[in-house]
Amino acid sequence: MTKFNLTAAVIGTGYIGTQHLEALKMLVSKVIVCNADVEKGKAVAEKYGCRFYADYEEMFKQEKLDFVNICVPTPMHCKIALSALEHGINVLCEKPFTSTLEEAYLVTQKAKEKNLALMVAHCVRFSRKYEYLRRCIADGRFGKLLSLELYRDGPKPAWSTGGWLLDIEKSGGVVRDVHVHDTDIVKFLLGMPESVYTKGSALCCTTLFDYGDDKLVSATASWRNASSFPFSPGFEAAFENGVMKLHDNKFLLYTDNTVTEDPHLAEEFDSCMKHGNLVTNEIDYFCQCLAKGEKNDRCSADDICESFAISFAESESMKTNRIIKTSRGYQRLFTYSPGVIPMILL
Ligand SMILES: NC(=O)c1ccc[n+]([C@@H]2O[C@H](COP(=O)([O-])OP(=O)(O)OC[C@H]3O[C@@H](n4cnc5c(N)ncnc54)[C@H](O)[C@@H]3O)[C@@H](O)[C@H]2O)c1
Repeated sequence: MTKFNLTAAVIGTGYIGTQHLEALKMLVSKVIVCNADVEKGKAVAEKYGCRFYADYEEMFKQEKLDFVNICVPTPMHCKIALSALEHGINVLCEKPFTSTLEEAYLVTQKAKEKNLALMVAHCVRFSRKYEYLRRCIADGRFGKLLSLELYRDGPKPAWSTGGWLLDIEKSGGVVRDVHVHDTDIVKFLLGMPESVYTKGSALCCTTLFDYGDDKLVSATASWRNASSFPFSPGFEAAFENGVMKLHDNKFLLYTDNTVTEDPHLAEEFDSCMKHGNLVTNEIDYFCQCLAKGEKNDRCSADDICESFAISFAESESMKTNRIIKTSRGYQRLFTYSPGVIPMILL
């Protein structure tokens, strides 16, 4: 039995869309597939026993959808999200939210105008390990946070349809496509930094986040030129009274006398966070919000717009080799007026 009596459509069934489809088949009563690549889309739809559309506009007209999962290449997120919202359909959109801040703002405003749910699929917010780290920082159970280092390395993404991920104009390179996860997590854990300084290129980058105190916060991401290189996200967080480390999928807590493996397992989490993978967790959460009519306060679009603003500040820092202030810039993003591209860079 599925958990939610909802109808969903996955638009784009490539690398991540297939994961959405797997999760949806477990969670909702009806799933529809849309893919512009008819041959591949039809094959996936047949495998999962779903109705198929090649054109999302046609699908929006024909089907009564509760929500759509937008899993197409990033440059198409904005157009498809705006169209879905215009048709009265709730939206779960893959990260990075859109190609520009202006687009992110327009989609967020449209969802508010239509009173529809909009969530950006920042799946790391649905990890119990990162949530455990968040709680430890918030309640100070190991004392003050002294340093936080996040990393997200992996092979160069040769698999994307038509190679769009390797086209920096389309994907935004490693800063926007990969590093954006940790930029968002830094914001989720610690709030808005005062400024960022980023060094790197389309293939690798490191950011120093300044919180106006002596805490050292950094994040590094890379696309390595070796297809056998494993995808390896992780972090090391040093507190006054302990160190937490997630590395090569091993999660350890070190204190003076003990080393605890998987310390998060002693915590209580919402049931949506207990699936084997983060995509299922985030979709379960989104469905829960829709089914119960609850506010999405874990991963709201406004919140994601803020971390997205930091991501663009990082790109500007990398381009100009300057420290970019983010706090005042964020205010400007939200005093946007139509026709003026919101500028966060000071
Ligand atoms: N959350 C994560 O960890 C995560 C991981 C991977 C990718 N992503 C994001 O997901 C999005 C998709 O990435 P991917 O790696 O799955 O790409 P992909 O190239 O593997 O798949 C894209 C799919 O979209 C389809 N498509 C293209 N245009 C379409 C259209 N107009 N209508 C319907 N279908 C269309 C393609 O045929 C393909 O099936 C990107 O924004 C990417 O950044 C997120």
